[in-house]
Amino acid sequence: MAQEDVFKKIVSHCKEYGFVFPSSDIYDGLAAVYDYGQNGVELKNNIKQYWWQSMVLLHENIVGIDSAIFMHPTIWKASGHVDAFNDPLIDNRDSKKRYRADVLIEDQIAKYEEKIDKEVAKARKRFGDAFDEEKFRQTNPRVLEHQAKRDALHARYSEAMNKMDLDELKQIILDEEIVCPISGTRNWTDVRQFNLMFKTEVGSTADGASTIYLRPETAQGIFVNYLNVQKTGRMKIPFGIAQIGKAFRNEIVARQFIFRMREFEQMEMQFFVKPGTEMDWFKQWKKTRLAWHEALGFGDECYRYHDHEKLAHYANAATDIEFKMPFGFKEVEGIHSRTDFDLSQHAKFSGRKIEYFDPEENRSYTPYVIETSIGVDRMFLSVMCHSYQEEKLENGETRVVLKLPAPLAPVKLAVMPLVKKDGLPEKAHEIMNDLKFHFNCKYEEKDSIGKRYRRMDAIGTPYCITIDHDTLNDNCVTLRDRDTMQQTRVAISDLRALIEDKVSITSLLKKLQ
Ligand code: GAP
Repeated sequence: MAQEDVFKKIVSHCKEYGFVFPSSDIYDGLAAVYDYGQNGVELKNNIKQYWWQSMVLLHENIVGIDSAIFMHPTIWKASGHVDAFNDPLIDNRDSKKRYRADVLIEDQIAKYEEKIDKEVAKARKRFGDAFDEEKFRQTNPRVLEHQAKRDALHARYSEAMNKMDLDELKQIILDEEIVCPISGTRNWTDVRQFNLMFKTEVGSTADGASTIYLRPETAQGIFVNYLNVQKTGRMKIPFGIAQIGKAFRNEIVARQFIFRMREFEQMEMQFFVKPGTEMDWFKQWKKTRLAWHEALGFGDECYRYHDHEKLAHYANAATDIEFKMPFGFKEVEGIHSRTDFDLSQHAKFSGRKIEYFDPEENRSYTPYVIETSIGVDRMFLSVMCHSYQEEKLENGETRVVLKLPAPLAPVKLAVMPLVKKDGLPEKAHEIMNDLKFHFNCKYEEKDSIGKRYRRMDAIGTPYCITIDHDTLNDNCVTLRDRDTMQQTRVAISDLRALIEDKVSITSLLKKLQ
C-alpha cells in the first residue's frame, strides 16, 4: 500500500477509535486545530508522563515548573520573536490561496528526490537480487540528472533562506515553474514576511488595553523564571528546568494532520551550564534524548539526527531528531545550544542582573543553555504511525492492531466476562475493582469475545482477560496477549504481578539507566 494511503488510514483510525477529533467537529472543524478523545488523552498523558519522569525523576539536578501562557509582551521583544519569528509567504492571485514560499520550494526538492527513488525502485524490480543500489545511484544518467537539479536547487534555496532574500525566493518559484495546486497557474504575488505569533489584548479597551501574545514556545517561561528557581531551589550549575505546556503558532501551511498545528503542546527542558562546557553537554543531551526515543523499541532505523547548517542567530549548535513518518523523515525534537542569548537579552530588557555565582570559581557569569524541545503531538503521531498495523490472519481475515508500547497504551487490561449471566459479570467486576488501582482497566461485556478482542486490538490494549464458567471454580482466567494473540490460563492472584511491570512507565525508565 502506498505510504500516502497508510497515512490516510491512520488519520481515520484516530477519529474512529477516539484518539483525535477535528476541533469544533460539528461546525466542520477549525483548520490545524485538533481535540484528543477518550483514548488519545490517555496515550498523550502517558507520553508526557514518560518524558516528565525521565527528566525530573531520573535527574537529581532537573526540576519542573508550570509557567503561564500569557507573559509580559516585552519578553517577546527580548527573545527576538516580535522581530524575527516570521515565515516567508506568497499568494496565488487566481486561487487566492496563501502558501509558505519555503515549503513550495522544499516540495519541489522532494519531487526530484521522489523521481530518483522511482528510478531506483524500477531498477531494483528489474535486476532483483543482483541489484547494486549504490552503484546505480552513482552511474545511472537519469538519476544523476535529477540529483544535479536537486542539488543546484537546494544550494540556491539554502543561500536565499540564509540571507532571507525574499526576491530570490520568488525567482526560484518562477524559475522552477512551480504552480499553485488549486488554480494550476504561476500568477504569484511577491514574497512577504508574516509573523507567526497570535495577538490578543489584556484589560478592557476603556482601561487602556495592551497587546499580548499567546506564547509560541514554552521555553521563555523557563528563562524568565531562571532566577526564581535557581534561588528558591538552591540549584547549582549544571541544572535543568523542565516544562510541559501549550504553545501557539499561526501556521499558514497546516497539513499532515497533527504534525503542524496552530495550538500544540511542547515538552521543553533548559539545561544551564558553565560557559565553555556547552558543547560537551550538547553532545550528551543529543545521546540522552535519542536513547529516550529508542527505549520505545521501534527500531534504531526509525530515527536520524539532522544537524542544522543554518543556525539561528542565538545558537552555536543545533540538531533535530527526525522520525520516519509515512511522509518521510520529519523533525520530532530539537536540541539546541542557545549560548547565553536568552538570559542576556532578558537581563538587558528587564534591567535585572541574571547571573549565577559559582562558588567553586568565586565569580559570577551568565550561564549558557542547552535546550531539548519536543512536540507532544508530533511524538503522539510518530507513536501512532509506527504502531498501526494491518495483519493478515491464518483464517484469511485482516486485523487492525495498534502495537503501542504497553506503557503508553490507553487501556492496559480489558476485563471480559464470557457471557452476561451466571455470575460472570460479578466475578469480572470483582477482579477489575482490585486491579484498577494499579493500571487502567476497561470492562467489556458487549458482543462476542472475538469482536471484543478486535476492538481492544484497535486501541492497542496489550492484555485481555476472559472470565468463564471455570473461573468460578478454579479462580483462573484466560489471559490473551495483543501481539502474539496467544492465550494462557493464569491464576487471578498472579495477574497483577504478570501485568503491572510490563505496562508501567517505570519499565521504560529502567531501560534508560
Ligand atoms: N524552544 C525551541 C522551539 O520551540 P522549535 O523547533 O520551533 O523549537 C520544537 O519547536 C518542537 O515543537 C518541534 O520539534 C516540534 O516537535 C514541535 N512543534 C513546533 N511547531 C509545531 C507545530 N506547529 N505543530 C506541532 N508541533 C510543533
